[in-house]
Amino acid sequence: MKMFSGWRRFAFGVLLILLLTRLYSAVRELSSSKMSEPHKQLNKKFDHLVLGPAAGQGLSNRLQCQGSKALNRTHSSNDRLVVGNTSYNKMDRSMAVLNIFINFIQVAMPQSEVIILTDPVSDLSVHRNRVSLYPIQGEYSRDKLMLQRIRSYITFLETRLHKLSQNSRDITHYIFTDSDMAVVDDLGQIFRDYPNFHMALTFRNNKGQPLNSGFIAVRGTSDGILRAKLFLQEVLKIYVSKYINASRMLGDQLALAWVVKSKPHFDASRFAKTIAFSDDIGGTSILFLPCAIYNWTPPEGAGQFHGMPLNVKVVHFKGSRKRLMLESWNFYSATPEIADMLCLILGSGRTKYDF
Ligand SMILES: *[C@@H]1O[C@H](CO)[C@@H](O)[C@H](O)[C@H]1NC(C)=O
Ligand SMILES: *[C@@H]1O[C@H](CO)[C@@H](O)[C@H](O)[C@H]1NC(C)=O
Ligand SMILES: *[C@@H]1O[C@H](CO)[C@@H](O)[C@H](O)[C@H]1NC(C)=O
Repeated sequence: MKMFSGWRRFAFGVLLILLLTRLYSAVRELSSSKMSEPHKQLNKKFDHLVLGPAAGQGLSNRLQCQGSKALNRTHSSNDRLVVGNTSYNKMDRSMAVLNIFINFIQVAMPQSEVIILTDPVSDLSVHRNRVSLYPIQGEYSRDKLMLQRIRSYITFLETRLHKLSQNSRDITHYIFTDSDMAVVDDLGQIFRDYPNFHMALTFRNNKGQPLNSGFIAVRGTSDGILRAKLFLQEVLKIYVSKYINASRMLGDQLALAWVVKSKPHFDASRFAKTIAFSDDIGGTSILFLPCAIYNWTPPEGAGQFHGMPLNVKVVHFKGSRKRLMLESWNFYSATPEIADMLCLILGSGRTKYDF
């Protein structure tokens, strides 16, 4: 079995769908193998676990147990982290991030559906309402992950385009996001407030990387899906031809910026303001949304800090801010006030976390 390593495995491929299509229900059949040993009737075997006293009780250099609760930490415990009352290993943490991502969406956008694009070999078990897995064959090694992410988006859009050609009555809009994000407001309004774009990207005032790839919205019309797909195919082409050697996490953002800026007379000074704007890039009508509202990241350190807009809609817990994401959900569950939770995030923004 191949295990995914940390959240990078999830960092892409989580996608959220606005508007209801259909509910997903996972039925998992457990196969039980019965032991039938007719000649050993006397030696009865159990079909369930039977716990007796744990050996080594009272020996200070041996593992001490209370039922199945360990009283000592073992070697692997070094890797454990505690958030609230829960202790997590690496894989738990990835799952916790994913689950909290889903929690926030279900609070902010209860009508939406979440589809998780995954590596077919990663053994994810997410059993939640309105959440489904969508495995896509590909290359999921660490250095190919961002490349695969774009490929997966393209594959996904192709299947939707095909679906739409069979039934064009149900329009479902899509937003591709990373899983380390908290959606704190309804994102469906983007499609209503800006009725003409094919796809939306988020921008920030950063010369080298003005576009973040963690949030890509696609209008669910056949035109929108087709144009978004063509745009991503162009980004993929540029990624492969120009940035394949770039740091593995940056290639896609560099390629995105390259494709956008390659439009003649593109006015990049608009990235310096936090006002949404639209432009036609190679036939795709792109809505540029400010990261400050749609992809707000708690600041790393001093400087460049302009607070949090009152209408912030998405908080992105990039890098080592996952602890803050988990703590935020715990805080929200206890209050539950989104605004108060945002104060917690804002106040914690200058701290570096352990994961
Ligand atoms: C293991 O836990 C027991 C019970 O808490 C404690 O008495 C013992 O000292 C611990 N052993 C080690 C090596 O930490
Ligand atoms: C942790 O446990 C304490 C005591 O059981 C409880 O009062 C508290 O609400 C818990 N905190 C969280 C974040 O679950
Ligand atoms: C990437 O690096 C390899 C090895 O250093 C080199 O051969 C190749 O030409 C580079 N590709 C691009 C597109 O820069």
